[in-house]
Amino acid sequence: MIRNLTLSAIAALALTAGNAIAAETAHIEDVAFSFEGPFGAFDRNQLQRGLQVHTEVCSACHGLTFVPIRTLSDEGGPALPEEQVIAYAKNFTVTDKDTGEDREATPTDHFPASGLENAPDLSLMAKARAGFHGPYGTGINQMFKGIGGPEYITAILTGYTGEEKEQAGTVFYENHAFPGGWIAMPPPLSDDLVEYADGHSASTQHLAEDVSAFLMWTAEPKMMARKQTGFVAVLFLTLLSVLLYLTNKRIWAGVKGKKKHA
Ligand code: HEC
Repeated sequence: MIRNLTLSAIAALALTAGNAIAAETAHIEDVAFSFEGPFGAFDRNQLQRGLQVHTEVCSACHGLTFVPIRTLSDEGGPALPEEQVIAYAKNFTVTDKDTGEDREATPTDHFPASGLENAPDLSLMAKARAGFHGPYGTGINQMFKGIGGPEYITAILTGYTGEEKEQAGTVFYENHAFPGGWIAMPPPLSDDLVEYADGHSASTQHLAEDVSAFLMWTAEPKMMARKQTGFVAVLFLTLLSVLLYLTNKRIWAGVKGKKKHA
């Protein structure tokens, strides 16, 4: 009887564990982005390519309202020359706060809001979503791979299966990476969709990684400065520890020395 009970308990446990695995969100591939790790930095060329993908494709539906256009020339970011930023700003029309009239944007304006009502703003998306979880809600995966926001965006952009269905007048597209499996965003990227400024075109995966890196920058434009400050702080604390250790030895030298002889 007891043996039977134990067996069924083990079977039940195995079953629930199996279900838990199935219920976990989609498998998201780790991408070796240049900005990961304590010494990682944004790849300026990749950010510029990502900006191009955003401008030519994503900006048709999505906004970036938290990003001032002038920051495109910031060091550590896409670092575009000032004249290019001024020219770039002219792509957008904004409503002037003072006059209430529409005018060309200038670098001091922010990127416009989403043009499509149900398309979320992408400014902070790379930090609002997580690519890695578990195992079983422990978050250990995130300790090694990071939160995985940019990986999640890459996975969404490359996770379409080609299936679609219509529900209550909205078309949904099957997507492995999207929780629930069906997303209202039509597949935005395809191979060679964007021709980069250097003349070469890129695979869907490449385009997706570039725009994800760019969206990581929009979500955390000061990442390089933060890492640098952290590095200086660690150096300073190491030095301070050595000095305190030596001071401590010096202060107690007399007392400790006496004990030895006693
Ligand atoms: C035709 C309009 C359209 C285009 C173009 C488009 N999107 Fe979307 N996007 C949407 C809509 C609509 C949603 C909301 C989908 C939903 O909630 O089912 C969405 C959602 C998203 C999400 C959020 C997923 C989540 O977890 O909530 C991300 C990330 C995203 N888009 C990234 C992009 C990127 C990057 C591009 C450019 C390569 C892009 N989109 C191009 C319409 C678009």
